[in-house]
Order: sequence, then C-alpha cells, then structure tokens
Amino acid sequence: MSRGNFSNKLGFIMAAAGSAVGLGNIWKFPYEVGIGGGAAFLLMYLAFCFILCFPVMVAEISIGRKTQRNAVGAFRALGFAKWSIIGKMGVASGVLILSFYNVVAGWAFGYFIEMLFGNFDISNHFGEYIGLEGTHAIKVVGYTIIFMISTSMIVSKGISGGIEKAARTLMPLLVIIIVSLILYSLTLPNAMKGIEFYLVPDFSKINFEVVYTALSHAFFSLSLGMGALITYGSYVSKQDNILSSAALITLADVGIAFIAGLMIFPFVFSQNIDPQEGPGLVFVALPKVFASLGAFWGQAIGSLFFLLLSFAALTSTVSLLEVPVSYVVDEHKMNRTKAVWLTSLVIFIIGIPSLLSQGASNFFTSFIWYGGADKAKDFLTLVEDIGINTFLPLGGLLTSIFTAYVWKTKNLSEEIAQGNSKYNGSLLMKLIDTAIVYICPVVLSGLFILIVLSKFFGIHIV
Ligand code: PHE
Repeated sequence: MSRGNFSNKLGFIMAAAGSAVGLGNIWKFPYEVGIGGGAAFLLMYLAFCFILCFPVMVAEISIGRKTQRNAVGAFRALGFAKWSIIGKMGVASGVLILSFYNVVAGWAFGYFIEMLFGNFDISNHFGEYIGLEGTHAIKVVGYTIIFMISTSMIVSKGISGGIEKAARTLMPLLVIIIVSLILYSLTLPNAMKGIEFYLVPDFSKINFEVVYTALSHAFFSLSLGMGALITYGSYVSKQDNILSSAALITLADVGIAFIAGLMIFPFVFSQNIDPQEGPGLVFVALPKVFASLGAFWGQAIGSLFFLLLSFAALTSTVSLLEVPVSYVVDEHKMNRTKAVWLTSLVIFIIGIPSLLSQGASNFFTSFIWYGGADKAKDFLTLVEDIGINTFLPLGGLLTSIFTAYVWKTKNLSEEIAQGNSKYNGSLLMKLIDTAIVYICPVVLSGLFILIVLSKFFGIHIV
C-alpha cells in the first residue's frame, strides 16, 4: 500500500511549518510572554528554539525519512524495538494535546463565526463564552465538533491532497494580516509601553517557572518531542535537504510567534489590559481592538483574523491527528478512513472534560490539586501539564539520547548527507553532533527533573 508523499520540498516545508505555526504562536505564546515578564521570556524561548530544539528537529525528520515509518514503527525499523516507547509516548501526547487543542481551536473558530455576523459583544463575555453559559453552550460545543470533523476530513484525504494545499495559501495571508495589525497598533496611545515590555528584558523576572515554561513552549511551538516530525519526515523525499528545511520551519515558526507578540502587546497596553491576563489575552484584547475599528472594518478584519487563526490551528490539528492515525494505519493495518474517524472520536471524548473545565462543570473546573498551587487546577490545565510540559521535553530528551547513543550520530549524518553532499565533515555537522550528544541530553535531563519536581511536587530547587 502506498503511504503517500509530499509532492516536493516546498510542500513538506509548508506542511511542517503549518504544523508548527498554530495556536501555540498566536494564542499561547503572547499570554506566556505576558505571564513570564515580557522580553525575558522571549529571550529564553528563542535560545531554546535554536540551541536545543533545532537539533532535535533535524533528528526527528532524519529518523522519519530514513525509515519511512510512523513514530512508533520508525524505532522498530531501525532495529531498536524497545525504543519505540518514545513513539508510543508521542502517540499518547498527540492524543492528549489534540483533545484540548481542539477545544481552544473551537473558541477561535467560534469567534470567526460570531464576528462574521457582527456580534462583537462576545468579546466582553469571554468567561461566559468558554464557561458555556446559556446559549453559548450549544454553539461552542458545535464549533468544537465542526473543527474536529474538519481535521478528520483533511487527514483522511492523506498527505499531499489535504494537508499541503491548505497550508500553502493560508499562511502568507496570515502574515499579511498580522503585519497590518502591527502597523495599526503602533498608532495607538501607549503602544510603545507594550513594545518596551515585549522587547526590553527585565532579568529580575526570570525564575525557574519562566525557564521551564519557555522550554516546553519551544517544543510545543515547533511540534517537537512527540514524533509529529518523524511522521512528516517519513513522507519526505531522499533528495531533500533536511537541514535547510528544518531551518526554514524553525524560522517561520519563531518569526510568526515574534510578530504575534509585536501585534498583541501594543494593543494590550493601549487598552490597559493586564498582560498577565492568561489564556484569555488574545480572545479579550483583539476583539476590543476590532470593535474600535467601527462596525464595518471591525467586522471584516476581525472575522478574517479569526478565520486565519482557525486555519493556522487546523494545519496543526491535522499534524496532531496524523501521529496516532499513521501509527494505527501502519502498525495495526487499519484502513486510513476508519483509523481517522475512530481516533478522532476517542480524542473528542477525551476532550469533553477539558471543554467543561472552563466553568461549565465545577467538578472539572476545580479538578485537582498538585504542585503546591494555591488553587485547584482545571482539567484542561492538567492535560496541558502532562501533554505539553512533561511529555514534550521528555520526548525531546529521549530522542536526543536515542540518536546519540543508540542509533549513533554517524547514521544521522549519513541520512542528512543524502540530500546535502557537503554535510559530512562540515562545521554544521560538528555543531549538530555536539548538540545531540552533549548539550541536549545534559540540559534537557537536568531541566526535566526540575520541571517534574516543581510542577507536580511543588519542590523548587532553583
Ligand atoms: N506547534 C503547534 C502550535 O504551535 C502545536 C503542535 C504541537 C502541533 C505538537 C503538532 C505537534 O500550535
């Protein structure tokens, strides 16, 4: 059975960048910068992306392309069946992350629909909206279902048909609208305060929480640590240059997160919104801005923005779903369509508690107490803590250990050199080898232990 392939290098880059660019860049990144004290967080995030994540990305794509298998099968195909645990954890993270990602994507999609029909009012009622109060309930649940079905339809179409096409046209549009909004934001009062908060670091704001949030966010934002890029890498042709592809994917992702921050903070400061607002930041700040543009422009630009955000989310949910689906298709020999619908259904069901955890159900809203927090955490936060903050850095750590000490960098270099004849012996090769053999295993294992202690046990060593 043919597994399908990306039609060419650009197709792969666009799909992988589509996976990377999503709610992580436009929704999560700004609010984490806000909580993490602005520029200090930004700097940590950039350092992690380039020093730790880039080499892991190269390793993931190489493992995928070498074996042409899914995240679990890839380790088996290399002859190290025991290490397929990395892939299994990846499948589990994919399922967990998608279960709540789909909920947030449903909010974004809902904002698009509501704004399209001129209903800016919801911007003042974000809490009621996500808390599923009154008539919001049926709508928000509906948006979530529509979103999950759209993801499933694209994934069931396979690689080049669905995934590539969507990514190719929509990403450039998203950049255009963000840049236009930045230009507009700079004309507003207090805009410069926002820029200062975002770009001038205050190192006294760095604590361990900022460090590990930036670390797990770097993995999340680049879609790393869960085999998504092993899976996408498995559809890449042997002639492609893995390094330049990985560099472009990283730059696209970091670039879009960066401009999303440039867009948000002037708005936040010009409207006296608290930058520490948390997950509501984008959903509260932007609609106010759109409303201030007047009925026509507000409606036009606001709905277009949330439409594009929904599409950015869609190219990410597609890659999240592709990980478990390709696993079931390859390893359990299920047909793609059946695998897609079955997996989506399971993920949707796992996501229901997250959907109810923003106020609709007291039980899921004050769900669990851990890590010495001052109040109980909701279900969605728990899933994020496990799926993103724990599994992704761990997945990245294990991938680097596997590549360095089990598969060996010689094989990594050989795979990279297939599409890049000058790679062997180059300075770049030495840098990547050093990162994979020393820097990633040491730094990631140290941070990982500290993350678990602090996040789950409330033990703060640093
Ligand atoms: N990178 C995506 C985002 O930033 C989320 C994602 C994580 C997608 C892991 C795939 C795998 O929104």
